[in-house]
Amino acid sequence: MPDLYAVIGNPVAHSKSPLIHAAFARQTGQDLVYERLLAPKDAFVATANAFRARGGRGLNVTLPFKGEAFRYATRLSERARAAQAVNALKFEGEVIFADNTDGAGLVNDLVRNLGCVISGRRILLLGAGGAARGVIEPLLQQQPAQFVLANRTPDRAQRLAQSFAGRLEAGTYAALAGGRFDLVVNATSASLAGELPPLPPGVFAPGALAYDMMYGKGETPFLAFARGEGAALLADGLGMLVEQAAESFFFWRGLRPDTAPVLQRLRQTNDA
Ligand code: ATR
Repeated sequence: MPDLYAVIGNPVAHSKSPLIHAAFARQTGQDLVYERLLAPKDAFVATANAFRARGGRGLNVTLPFKGEAFRYATRLSERARAAQAVNALKFEGEVIFADNTDGAGLVNDLVRNLGCVISGRRILLLGAGGAARGVIEPLLQQQPAQFVLANRTPDRAQRLAQSFAGRLEAGTYAALAGGRFDLVVNATSASLAGELPPLPPGVFAPGALAYDMMYGKGETPFLAFARGEGAALLADGLGMLVEQAAESFFFWRGLRPDTAPVLQRLRQTNDA
């Protein structure tokens, strides 16, 4: 019997995770199956428990259950604790190990795939929801020279910055005027709605990288704005998706797959 894994979410039909993990399993010779698990919005725990009863070894968790998965876990990794959200669960007997691989996925995509240097540079992170929270600690660990968080509702940004002991600055979009950043990461859900966060002009420093955590939406309004503002490099979140999957695979199987061929294949089908 192959080991059983799945991605749990609602909706989940669009998820590329089964494709990615099947490719990782083939590449590393691991005998596993990876399914999609649609949970009713009010039945995350019941659905996860039923999956465990079927012999499930681990889950990736996607929207809207990352907070519930955090509360469901019995043992949290350091980065899951910092994120207060969980996207990977591992079941061993009664123990539910939990991790958050989103931030490491972003950092690995930036540093390894895109050749971006974060250390000593100026970073701007847009948004103060779960997606932003999940990537703050791994970004901070790269030791940027400056780390600014901007959000439409400034209170939320302030509270989030405080929960990281003031290791980043928080403010409004308007307050960014005159600032220059080497890396601007869009962690808002604005792209989902085809909207642009209200960035003032001039925030992209020469050579800047603009990164939208969204993928599969073509050029988002944020990336189009960044292009117009002269950002040197534009990236969507497909690389982050593959890199967070690789971190999850390592969490479960103790093996690191080669992400490059998998990302390349996904890009080809995405662009087709
Ligand atoms: P997620 O878990 O995906 O981060 P969320 O908790 O709903 O989802 O947070 C969405 C984020 O996108 C918030 O930072 C939100 O800003 P507010 O806190 O002011 O609501 C941000 N957001 C959504 N639409 C936006 C838009 N059109 N412009 C700017 N920010 C937007």
